[in-house]
Amino acid sequence: MPTLQAIRYYKDSKTLTILDQLVLPHETRYVTINSSDDAFWAIKNMVVRGAPAIAIVAALGLAVEVASKETRPQFGTSLSEVSLNILTRLDHLVSARPTAVNLSQAANALRGIVHATTAQSPDELIAEVVDYAEKMLEHDISDNKNIGEHGSQWIRKELGLKEGEKISVLTICNTGSLATAGYGTALGIIRSLHSQGVLNHAYCLETRPYNQGSRLTAYELVYEQIPATLVTDSMAGALLRATPDIKLVVVGADRVAANGDTANKIGTYQLSTLSKVHGVKFMVAAPTTSIDINTKSGDDIVIEERPHNELTTTKGPLIDRDGRVDPENIITIATAAKGVNIWNPAFDVTPKENIDAVATEKGVLTKSSSGSYDFSTLF
Ligand code: MRU
Repeated sequence: MPTLQAIRYYKDSKTLTILDQLVLPHETRYVTINSSDDAFWAIKNMVVRGAPAIAIVAALGLAVEVASKETRPQFGTSLSEVSLNILTRLDHLVSARPTAVNLSQAANALRGIVHATTAQSPDELIAEVVDYAEKMLEHDISDNKNIGEHGSQWIRKELGLKEGEKISVLTICNTGSLATAGYGTALGIIRSLHSQGVLNHAYCLETRPYNQGSRLTAYELVYEQIPATLVTDSMAGALLRATPDIKLVVVGADRVAANGDTANKIGTYQLSTLSKVHGVKFMVAAPTTSIDINTKSGDDIVIEERPHNELTTTKGPLIDRDGRVDPENIITIATAAKGVNIWNPAFDVTPKENIDAVATEKGVLTKSSSGSYDFSTLF
């Protein structure tokens, strides 16, 4: 079975296409990204989403623009002109979405390349920028596989699972191949448990209001033939009560603060609280690029607010009277009373107290005796 690929990048031709996550799971359509402006548009409008994926698309969007014969002249002829134009585009890209640190982390790394370069010509600098963006794509997949391995081994040990013993797992949002370069973070741990024969069942929350769970995670689980059940967000408490073999809640991260407080998809905080009440292990799965040691705690994380219509409407293909889905006929329907006030934060912060472990590509961290995480060993 071919693996799902949200980001298709061809090194030789320097071309980039991304899977349009607005029309999934009803349609598989790739969109071409020719420039940093295209990448900005795709990130802002959620054509691509998920912290690692947006950072990679931003970097590759800039890379294809600066490497292409058609758009390269817009960057100028001198080293200083090219540098300035790269920096201007990076400033624009980071403004697309504020919460996921991966995007600003990638932009900072690329800025660092521009400032520290010893390139003698614009082409040498361009080669350095393109090389960094291409490596981001390659490293993300191997990092995710390592997160999957470390996270799955940790939970097996922590629970003292014996040979043949299986557990069920609950997750929120989409943290899989679609949110990354491949394999996924939290979903990568579920994938690893499944391939080790330890997963009984995966449960995914719908993840209102944008339904990344029901549209994207459910799609990935079906695609990978992992036994799975979808529930609405409001069913999480009842599900944990009714399903004692759920031993792990595993989620992704958009930004992990220096003390361990973690911003992730809205609904994660209440899920962590429910996990605590039910004595279920709560694990954050995050590449080290999602850890922000410059942000002291969750109070300092900027939470993105999304447009109101993402909460008051829902979109999808029309289903006819015989239950046939018509992917050509996408309709939008209203789901809220007109005139009501709306608050639509895309993320919330889970306090470190509710987090039992943070699984990274370098290993799993737990809290020290002072109750905080110490990520300094990772960098
Ligand atoms: O708004 P989204 O869909 O970009 O939110 C995604 C999440 O919250 C994910 O859990 C997070 O980015 C980690 S993805 C590996």
